[in-house]
Amino acid sequence: MEPRLTCGSVLGGLGHAAWAQVKRGLTELMVKSVDGRIQEPHLVRLNGRIWLTRVMSYSRRVIDDALDELFPHLAAIAIEGAKGVGKTMTATQRAVARVNLANRAQRLVIQANPNYVVTLAKPTFIDEWQLVPDVWEEVKASVDGDHAGGQFLLAGSAGLDPAIRVHSGAGRIVSMTMRPMGLSERGLVQPTVSMRSLLGGEVRISGDSPMALPDYVDAIVSSGFPALRGLPPRALNTALDSYIQRVIHHDLEENGLSVRRPQALLAWLTAYAAATSTVASYNSILDAATPGDSEKPARQTVTSYREALTRLFMLDPVPAWLPALSPLKRLAQAPKHHLVDPALAARLTGATRESLLRGEGPARPGTDATLLGALFESLATQAVRVLAEALGVRLSHLRTRGGEHEIDLIIEAADRRVVAFEVKLSGAIDDRDVRHLHWLREQIGDRLIDSVVLSSGPIAYRRPDGVAVVPLALLGP
Ligand SMILES: Nc1ncnc2c1ncn2[C@@H]1O[C@H](COP(=O)(O)OP(=O)(O)OP(=O)(O)O)[C@@H](O)[C@H]1O
Ligand SMILES: [Mg+2]
Repeated sequence: MEPRLTCGSVLGGLGHAAWAQVKRGLTELMVKSVDGRIQEPHLVRLNGRIWLTRVMSYSRRVIDDALDELFPHLAAIAIEGAKGVGKTMTATQRAVARVNLANRAQRLVIQANPNYVVTLAKPTFIDEWQLVPDVWEEVKASVDGDHAGGQFLLAGSAGLDPAIRVHSGAGRIVSMTMRPMGLSERGLVQPTVSMRSLLGGEVRISGDSPMALPDYVDAIVSSGFPALRGLPPRALNTALDSYIQRVIHHDLEENGLSVRRPQALLAWLTAYAAATSTVASYNSILDAATPGDSEKPARQTVTSYREALTRLFMLDPVPAWLPALSPLKRLAQAPKHHLVDPALAARLTGATRESLLRGEGPARPGTDATLLGALFESLATQAVRVLAEALGVRLSHLRTRGGEHEIDLIIEAADRRVVAFEVKLSGAIDDRDVRHLHWLREQIGDRLIDSVVLSSGPIAYRRPDGVAVVPLALLGP
């Protein structure tokens, strides 16, 4: 992919003396790109002046594998996901024509004539389609008339209000969810253990990871939002804070939810963040948000916040595994709590790189695990989710009703066979860490393709009992 020119700044800012040095080859110009790499800048001559442009290269995403495989055969794909995860960038790479419904002028034109979007050159990319829901029907009708692959990409950063009814588009418009960059997408380590191969069975496990615990903490607090890659700590924190503020003060409102007490919502979201990677009840989260407060928000109000935050993909809970045709009984149904990126949870709870490494963190309802353990599990969940989504397999967690047995992550292929993952912060894995995986094997036998412990350790290997131990950074597509 050619580097893309995105914005220019006048080179005059360098000063004439510096520019003269550049021309004489005495100074090299360098620009830091969004992914933190230093690159040569583009110099562009325009209107008789020389402009220095920031170079932005496109980092390939895991979802690109799925798009390569599917888009030639499917007429329309909708990419959904939280703000800033890279939907527009990824879809733009594949489009010939584009309309952006977040742009007011374009929106007004298309509101008046939604059919316009199906008349453009293909592939057509319709960004923020949910702002003019009629567009969905137009695409669906167009695809009904012509099934050829590769015609429409749609992107949306908010699910629709359930009050707005859109025909599901089943079979005509396929939805995929995009998330912040999973660990394997961040270019930190070359993965050696393939998720696709794990699902295929009989995979050899090997590889060394240079990442140690402090590196994983860095990965947690720096987030997977592509635009925030490589930012220095203070700018990063400011960007994450404004992401949270924008959701509370702007995005919810824009999606039809009036937030009367933003402070109460922030307190609730903070308590939710503290409950990351637990199945704490919503009552206990509300109590933690408003201790001793007799004027707690009504439970209904909190439910509507929660639904709206989920619709904006800010909350990204992992559902409980409720397998059909299985001998497993007495499974709990509560989802496991996660924000779309663990860096948001760290920011909300006031955790820093240093406090996490010291083992500090707020009290967490219903668990004595450390906040760092919870955020590492959340990082692993995001990493596995991104890979599972691209392969079209479902992700869930398993917990028996009394909590005697728990499996952190289960991915289930279409043939109902599963790979089970336990996430352990520790670098050294012992028999206690794999006991639930053995229990699951006894319960479901061959339906379990493989069992994996994701750790922060240095080496990928298979234990004598058959369980794979894989450093989280080594798990890739
Ligand atoms: N694959 C990528 N490689 C490099 N940079 C990227 C990539 N994807 C996104 N970015 C950077 O992240 C920024 C946000 O990405 P993008 O606008 O595509 O997100 P989005 O999901 O469409 O967000 P929104 O919901 O706010 O529209 C981009 O402007 C770009 O700077
Ligand atoms: Mg966008």
